[in-house]
Amino acid sequence: MRRPMVAGNWKMHGTRASVAELINGLRDLALPSGVEVAVFPPLLHISQVVDGLKGKSISVGAQNSAVESGQGALTGEVSPSQLVDAGCSLVLVGHSERRQLMGEQDGVLIRKFAAAQASGLVPVLCIGETLEQREAGKTLEVVSQQLGSIIDELGVGAFAKAVIAYEPVWAIGTGLTASPQQAQDVHAAIRAQLAAENSEVAQGVRLLYGGSVKAANAVELFGMPDIDGGLIGGASLNADEFGAIIRAAGN
Ligand code: 13P
Repeated sequence: MRRPMVAGNWKMHGTRASVAELINGLRDLALPSGVEVAVFPPLLHISQVVDGLKGKSISVGAQNSAVESGQGALTGEVSPSQLVDAGCSLVLVGHSERRQLMGEQDGVLIRKFAAAQASGLVPVLCIGETLEQREAGKTLEVVSQQLGSIIDELGVGAFAKAVIAYEPVWAIGTGLTASPQQAQDVHAAIRAQLAAENSEVAQGVRLLYGGSVKAANAVELFGMPDIDGGLIGGASLNADEFGAIIRAAGN
């Protein structure tokens, strides 16, 4: 049985004051024990969140990390080992906003994924197609290529200690959500691609859906057999809404 996971990606949102408020809201949530909960604050607020959530079973992760696991001369970057030192246990790799806006491509993402694991962080690999690619019928090809680049380089075993988030780019921050069946179809294809190499890894890995998940659509999405939870953007900035999504994953 895979333990469902609900993670909040706060993106570039928050001030010390608003983060303090969000921490209070999260502390007040009654969390179902069957669901793993995580938040990904901006780097600047990670220490505040780690301290603020002490004693609460919510993991903290970073939205990005460097291509090298140890410390070094890499101005402006933060290494996975520094994130571990700060109390992080997870890191996002390859979010579409970074692929598209920061030009991150497979080569760099493979290094980030490997460096994260070398430091003991669990990478959450984000993959997904654009609207143009979906309309051209290329969804499965795109997603399979993004996943395949990591499998080819690091081996399918790398996914024994990783999470995958399917986030169709056209559904992120747009209010458009993939239908439960659309999401399930892609999740099943992702799991089948892993199973072709190693069925144990495929059955164990959590596949999260991301893209305009709200309390109102979470139950249906999380009810699909290959959807093991969600990566939540906008709705994770509201503790009550985030809490309702977590409860949906617990059902
Ligand atoms: P939204 O939930 O705001 O659509 O964002 C999804 C996302 O990108 C999470 O990483």
